[in-house]
Formats: sequence, structure tokens, C-alpha cells
Amino acid sequence: MTNPFYQKSLISVDNLKRADIELVFNTTRQMRELVEKKGGDDRLKRKILAALFFEPSSRTFSSFISAMQRLGGGIIPLPGMSFTSIAKGETLQDTARVFSKYADVLVVRHPEPGSVALVSNNSEKPVINAGDGINEHPSQALIDIVTIMSRFGNPEKIHILMIGDLAHYRPTNSLSKLLALFPGVRLSLATPAKVPLPENIREYLKAKNVDFREYNDFTDLIPETDVLYVTRVKKEYMEKSLYEEIKGSYKIDKRIVSRMKKGSLIMHCLPRIDEIAREVDTSPQSIYLSTQLENSLFVRMALLDLILRK
Ligand code: CP
Repeated sequence: MTNPFYQKSLISVDNLKRADIELVFNTTRQMRELVEKKGGDDRLKRKILAALFFEPSSRTFSSFISAMQRLGGGIIPLPGMSFTSIAKGETLQDTARVFSKYADVLVVRHPEPGSVALVSNNSEKPVINAGDGINEHPSQALIDIVTIMSRFGNPEKIHILMIGDLAHYRPTNSLSKLLALFPGVRLSLATPAKVPLPENIREYLKAKNVDFREYNDFTDLIPETDVLYVTRVKKEYMEKSLYEEIKGSYKIDKRIVSRMKKGSLIMHCLPRIDEIAREVDTSPQSIYLSTQLENSLFVRMALLDLILRK
């Protein structure tokens, strides 16, 4: 079987197919077993990953670094670019050329939509989009779909309710597009009125004939939800006045969770601020601090393995 990820950049989920997701799913399972049995191996020895993060990150940065090291590779970790020549005015294009001479794969986070595609267009090596502004976060969406599949199998016939500031949330943009590959999935998208679903995502879902509806109040949907995906208000992408208006609009607490189906899941790709009460962390539905978080390492190991090895 050919490996469609080999030496390819991952900038958007747009071109991924179901077979690609299944390949990531199966490779992720192998990575979990590898880590559980041996902690890792040396299959990426002498390969180098450059992590160029122009925005803060805990999970994406650290899990890619951990993934590379668990597979025997080396790293150029730049958490914040203020000590690179970007601070002297070097362009993103030249930065891409430089790091693609030193590394075998670039993992890039940047606040501007389209910026990671620009890096990719100027890089001799594959580039993974670790989040470009309010646009996409493909590796997070793969983590999320793998997590959903490990609970439900192929996510056909399940009801996924995403809530929060979907106007600025790149992981749910990418995840919604991936879910469009599974006919029969029901998608409910609930946002405060001031931060609606991005128009390009609405159009994408319509074009793919996804069964989706938009809401402002999600509470009636809770008993018929299989996956409740909670998001943070992205304070860093909005005016202070808008943040003050919408913060705290939605909060998942034990009372809401008590109305959820047995076997349903609560997901959040983190960081969580106050949109899920701490009392919910120990609910059987809550997997944001366990399976979903663990998968961030295993899926990124799978991606690096697939991109760097034929
Ligand atoms: N989920 C996620 O992207 O987290 P970080 O911003 O901490 O990388």
C-alpha cells in the first residue's frame, strides 16, 4: 500500500480522504503500543524536526517534540521566534528556506491564516500546519477524529455537538471538514450570536451535503448528543469589548452532564479556561484530560512516521 503522506506537507485537511484517516488511525494504534511496550524506537534517527512557533502552545509544540524524540529523531525547538532573525526583519519566505536546509520536517504555528502555506511554498521539506490563525489546525483534527473513531468506530450515524466561539476556532474548522467525509454524521454547531460559524465552513458543509444545523442555545440537544465538543473563547483573536460580551456564555457543569447519554463523550482540545467546570473532569464522559490528550502524542508520532518514512 502506498503512503500518501510520504514527504507531503499537511497544511489543510481539504485533500484528505477516508483511507488517509484510516491509515492515521491504524498507525496511531501502532504508536500507542510502541510507547506502552518500549517507550519508542529509533526509526527516525538522524531526521530533524524544526518547531517554529510564532504563537504560544503547550500541547502542539511539546507533543511534536516528544513524538520526534520517541522515534529517535532530533529537534530544533523554537517556542517563540523572538530569538531568531525574524526579530531583525527576516521574511517568512527566507525563514522557510533556512530551516528547510537544517531540518527534514517543519512544524509551524503562526497567527496569520495562510502563513503556513506560504512557509510550505518556500520550503524544500514537508511542513505541518500547527495552527494558522483562525484558519486550520489539521493535526489537532486528526487527533480528534482518531479519538472519536476509537470510541464509535467510523463516525457515521453519530451526533456531534460543537459549542462555543466557532468563529475563531481552527481545530473545529478542520474537524468539521473531516467529519464531512462520513455520510450520516449529524453535526450541530452552537455559538453565541456574535461569533457565528465562519462562512467558508458553512459553505463547505453545504457543498458536501452534511446534515448540519446552527444554534445559539444548545441545551435541548444535550440528551441526544454522542460527542459534546467544547471550545474556548479565543480572546487573542477579538476586540476586548467582544470578549467581555461573550465570555462565560456557555459553561458545561455537572447538571448539564447529568443529562448526557451513557457512553457519550465530552471533548476539548485545550487549553480550557472556564467553559468546562472542574467538577466535570471526573465524569465518565470526560476524555479531554485523558484519551484525547494522550492521542495528541500518538497521532503526531504516526504523522511524523508517515511523512518521513516510505
Ligand atoms: N490544542 C492545542 O492546539 O493546544 P496548544 O495551543 O497548547 O498547542
